[in-house]
Amino acid sequence: MQITADLIVILGTGGTIAGTAKTASDGVGYTAAQLSVEDLLAAVPALASRRLEAHQVAQLDSKDMDFLTWQRLATAVQAQLARPEVGGIVITHGTDTLEETAYFLQRVLAPAKPVVLTAAMRPATALAPDGPQNLFDAVQVAAAPGAEGVVVACAGRVHDATQVRKTHSYRVDAFESVDGALVARVEEGVVRLLGRWPSGEALGLACISRPAERWPRVEIVMNHAGASGAVVDALRAAGVDGLIAAGTGNGTLSVALDTALREAQADGVKVWRSTRCDAGPVMDLPGLLPSAGALSPVKARIELILTLLAG
Ligand code: SIN
Repeated sequence: MQITADLIVILGTGGTIAGTAKTASDGVGYTAAQLSVEDLLAAVPALASRRLEAHQVAQLDSKDMDFLTWQRLATAVQAQLARPEVGGIVITHGTDTLEETAYFLQRVLAPAKPVVLTAAMRPATALAPDGPQNLFDAVQVAAAPGAEGVVVACAGRVHDATQVRKTHSYRVDAFESVDGALVARVEEGVVRLLGRWPSGEALGLACISRPAERWPRVEIVMNHAGASGAVVDALRAAGVDGLIAAGTGNGTLSVALDTALREAQADGVKVWRSTRCDAGPVMDLPGLLPSAGALSPVKARIELILTLLAG
């Protein structure tokens, strides 16, 4: 019997999209992660004609996202995608670390079906909440023919997991595809493809099976005027496994920071250079510490964690 893959599974993890404030006019003094994923769906009657299933995987403010939740989420996504009747997944998430979770899931799962993260900048109790529209749009993307890979749907735009960054602390359209094209736009429920769906090779769940408390410790250090090696030395003493240097410009580092990082590297700490610029790659040059390519510092950190887990 032919099974129609028209079921969209919504996985809730918390965030402002599930947040509530005491008054409708309060857009910042709210508490994130208060409403269940079923509550979020109930606020979007326009989705009633869709075949949907909802599961709460976590309930947190995404500033507190952690390895254990990532492990649980990746496992839940994989299990849902394996069901033949599931056409796609939507994950409701906080905006603050959404780009990290999106990148993590893309690298671990590189799914052949769409996995769409969505979020909101305003709590569900706001005068004009953005969550219901974003959730509606995300479901359209998850059900779009030909869609695949991990993307982010917010404010009518669909971003690739590798390109997306939160670039604004307050605006409703807080995300940009900083170093590449948008994947698509969603207009009146119609997904208009502009670029390509993300693809790639999955590292697989086995890569992240180590107990979360024993994942490698990778920290980010920044170059800035007067940057010393003190933070690197302290992290080395604390037993760090990897360091991402958020350098200036093309990943440049002060002499003191560069010296401390090279000493850490000689001591067995894996060190990559990224940039604190909002976009653009760090070019590899002879004699310099290795570059993290075009990955932002937070995504380079995830890549290095996965590399160390695999190694
Ligand atoms: C969060 O990231 O969970 C809170 C902030 C937000 O969702 O905008």
